[in-house]
Amino acid sequence: PIYELGLEEIVKRNQKRGNLSFKTSDGEVVKWAEVIFICVGTPNEGNTPDLSAIFSVAEEIGRNLNSYKVIVVKSTVPVGTNVAIERKVQEVSGKKDFDIVSNPEFLREGTAVHDFMNPDRIVVGVRSEKAEKVMRDVYENLIEKGVPFLVTDPFTAELIKYASNAFLAMKISFINSMARLCDAFGADVEKVAEGMGLDKRIGPHFLKPGPGFGGSCFPKDTKALLSIAQEASTPFPLVEATISTNEFQVSYVVDKLEKLLNGLEGKIVAVWGLAFKKGTDDVRESPALKIIEEIFKRGGGVKAYDPEATENALKVLPELKCFPDRYEVLNGADVLLILTEWDEFKESDFEKVKSLLKKPLIFDSRNLLNPHEVRKLGFTYESIGRP
Ligand code: UGA
Repeated sequence: PIYELGLEEIVKRNQKRGNLSFKTSDGEVVKWAEVIFICVGTPNEGNTPDLSAIFSVAEEIGRNLNSYKVIVVKSTVPVGTNVAIERKVQEVSGKKDFDIVSNPEFLREGTAVHDFMNPDRIVVGVRSEKAEKVMRDVYENLIEKGVPFLVTDPFTAELIKYASNAFLAMKISFINSMARLCDAFGADVEKVAEGMGLDKRIGPHFLKPGPGFGGSCFPKDTKALLSIAQEASTPFPLVEATISTNEFQVSYVVDKLEKLLNGLEGKIVAVWGLAFKKGTDDVRESPALKIIEEIFKRGGGVKAYDPEATENALKVLPELKCFPDRYEVLNGADVLLILTEWDEFKESDFEKVKSLLKKPLIFDSRNLLNPHEVRKLGFTYESIGRP
């Protein structure tokens, strides 16, 4: 049901070999298994995750517990959920013959298969040596390849997940703030990021400016961490600022666009990209959709193209005019606005782009194109934090 590079082949191949099979819940799976991974969604309800799917699985496990099992929580859950799951399984089964393990997931959409095969680390939060041994067996191949295997208690493992996502989101908000500052001074944020990233203590990753972070994880997990911190009466203003900086980035992009067009009223914006990033058809919390909604509010019209995410975007914004071809959206438009960094956009025929637009104007919110090259072709070109 999702677009994910390489996933379909792997699923089909392993189904064929008999390594992978699917069942609807009838308890058989639980009875048969030694290790059970809980991987259900935990969408936000307000600022806290909805755990109903987790508890429904815990009940199912409890009802069918017939021997010692290791129950692994992969879903992202608030700190302490491991204890609540343990209680639920005990309450339903009347038994204590199981272990709960927290094993947070760090893979990214779009490169999930690669990340799964090549993780930076494996984190397991366990309470018994028996469970640790089972988890070492599960991950044996990766451990042998040299992937660090970090063993903690389950509370710490749960926190590592939120800490990692919030920290990465904070890096993005930092560089987006820096990009605005670069715009103010005519400096180059790409060079600032490069200069910072060469310092090994900082590192070059997640310092790419853009229209803000989206997706099903960073927006949800930063809010969830904030709410966890508030509940623990431990203020966390850095995370608060990460969230508000990200929200502000949407209006920053639209303000810049409005200025470029001398007002948005009655203007037609050709949008390339709807997904929250390249390599996925996911539009959850996509900055592209937020920016489009803001353009509508300010009186502009939009014609949009995305290689994968159109169907999902239309579920959220049914009034959006989408086209199956990236050049079609340009016909008679006042500007080309790039909102997702799909590689194919770089390989476009820009002479054709120029001939279709009303004026040769590009606003590249992902800093995807080379400014010198597009300007040489006669475009007026704007991006984020680049002179
Ligand atoms: C993120 C984390 O990177 C994963 O480690 C984690 O497992 C996952 O959340 C999760 O919790 O499940 P994902 O949401 O798939 O993965 O996507 P990212 O590649 O992290 O990008 C998130 C957002 O940040 C995107 O909107 C992207 O465009 C934006 N971004 C990323 C930037 O604006 N600049 C950057 O330098 C990097």
